[in-house]
Amino acid sequence: MRIYLLGFMGCGKSSLGRRLARKLEYPFLDIDNEVERILGQEIPDIFRTKGETAFREAERQVLHSTATVQKAVIATGGGTPCYSDNMDFMLENGATVYLKMSPISLAHRLEHARRKRPLIENLKGDKLLSFIKSKLSEREEYYLRSGCIIKGESAKPDQIISLVFGCR
Ligand code: S3P
Repeated sequence: MRIYLLGFMGCGKSSLGRRLARKLEYPFLDIDNEVERILGQEIPDIFRTKGETAFREAERQVLHSTATVQKAVIATGGGTPCYSDNMDFMLENGATVYLKMSPISLAHRLEHARRKRPLIENLKGDKLLSFIKSKLSEREEYYLRSGCIIKGESAKPDQIISLVFGCR
């Protein structure tokens, strides 16, 4: 079983993913970290020196390489499901869980977590909130294709376990 965690930046994919993996005794994989490892640069540097297109290509490759892992909890990046064939790939290759969170909650969480996130590093306050609202409305059609949708604000590993092993 591969469990893909999806959702907007800041919704808790990586921290929840790590806890879920520990509980299931599955390996944990973070797509962003793998892209950084393979390209040998941190995400802001990749965006700056190679451009977003190169980042998206590496992100797709890393995602597709998860097909070789039998069991894993995989935290995707906020944009992963919205590019190329990535959403179809995840739907075909595992359980998909969308951690749905309101723009206000995301804005609170992201206000002090903008460093290392090139899409929002120069936005704060109202500008950050309007960016989140507009980007989320573009992206949600992808996220909403997930097999399970849970409230990100209160998501717990046990809840994901019972949903995923029941709703795939
Ligand atoms: C991105 C989200 C980031 C990272 C990159 C682009 C996006 O991941 O992949 O900065 O397009 O939303 P997180 O969702 O883990 O912040």
